[in-house]
Amino acid sequence: MSLLELSGVTRSVVLPDDRTLEILRGIDLTVDAGEHVSIVGRSGTGKSTLLNILGLLDAPTSGEYVLDGVPIGRLSGRARARRRGTDFGFVFQQFNLLQGRTALENVVAPLLYARGRQFWQRRTLAAEMLERVGLGDRLDTRPEKLSGGEQQRVAIARALVRVPRVILADEPTGALDVDTGSEVMDLLDTIARENGSALIAITHDLAVASRASRQFRLADGVLTPIAISARSAGSLGALGAPGDQPSGPGPGAAGRPAVSGDDQAEHVARPLVPAHGAAPGEGDAA
Ligand SMILES: Nc1ncnc2c1ncn2[C@@H]1O[C@H](COP(=O)(O)OP(=O)(O)OP(=O)(O)O)[C@@H](O)[C@H]1O
Ligand SMILES: [Mg+2]
Repeated sequence: MSLLELSGVTRSVVLPDDRTLEILRGIDLTVDAGEHVSIVGRSGTGKSTLLNILGLLDAPTSGEYVLDGVPIGRLSGRARARRRGTDFGFVFQQFNLLQGRTALENVVAPLLYARGRQFWQRRTLAAEMLERVGLGDRLDTRPEKLSGGEQQRVAIARALVRVPRVILADEPTGALDVDTGSEVMDLLDTIARENGSALIAITHDLAVASRASRQFRLADGVLTPIAISARSAGSLGALGAPGDQPSGPGPGAAGRPAVSGDDQAEHVARPLVPAHGAAPGEGDAA
């Protein structure tokens, strides 16, 4: 049995002029425990919407989502919120750290909703996690004093401190330069593997996507398996999907795909009003 199974998942929204926007049109996806999957696609194709559904921040309009054998649609809002806190860690492009709080306080935050040892030893666990991301000497530093790469490492520590079964990363390197982005992805890969967490990463960057064991492209609300090799990673346009070229600048330095202009413009996963009444609940990372 797979850890995550989406079958025929759609998501549509009714616009103010009464038109229906079909964002996702029948997504089938299975992800096994510990697997690393990446999803690429141009801006506005529904990547964050899909990630929000996977992370129980939003619910499908139709179709089924089974998480670890449990059909999510049958859970109460409260049960869904609990699973969101225990099973998922989120990493966003813009880090979404609590400003004015120290790195340690940021990483402690999800543990405030945990039980048992995770709650009682929260400061120790958070400090250990910051040590693992190389920030053991910056526990008391506030995010605004840290570099972008360091802030993303704090965000990774926060996403992983409850040892989630799935890490959902929405453009984790989008706000970082190429080398820092690569270091951050190394870290995310390594800690995810050590923890046995699955990693689902959305990215415009084909070099980032090529690290995953399976890759998909989302275009016009449809998810299709693709194959990106680290060497062929050039630009989204190189994948040959009509109309799927990023609107930003073309490939960047030496064999590395550029970050598109869309990346720069994007901030965080757009908060959607959950269709089935799930309120943001305990353990929400952001
Ligand atoms: N609640 C909403 N109401 C109306 N439209 C929405 C809503 N949520 C998403 N959309 C629209 O659905 C489309 C997909 O949005 P989404 O944020 O999932 O795209 P994305 O692939 O993550 O884009 P980007 O790469 O720019 O982050 C966009 O056209 C967006 O404007
Ligand atoms: Mg997005």
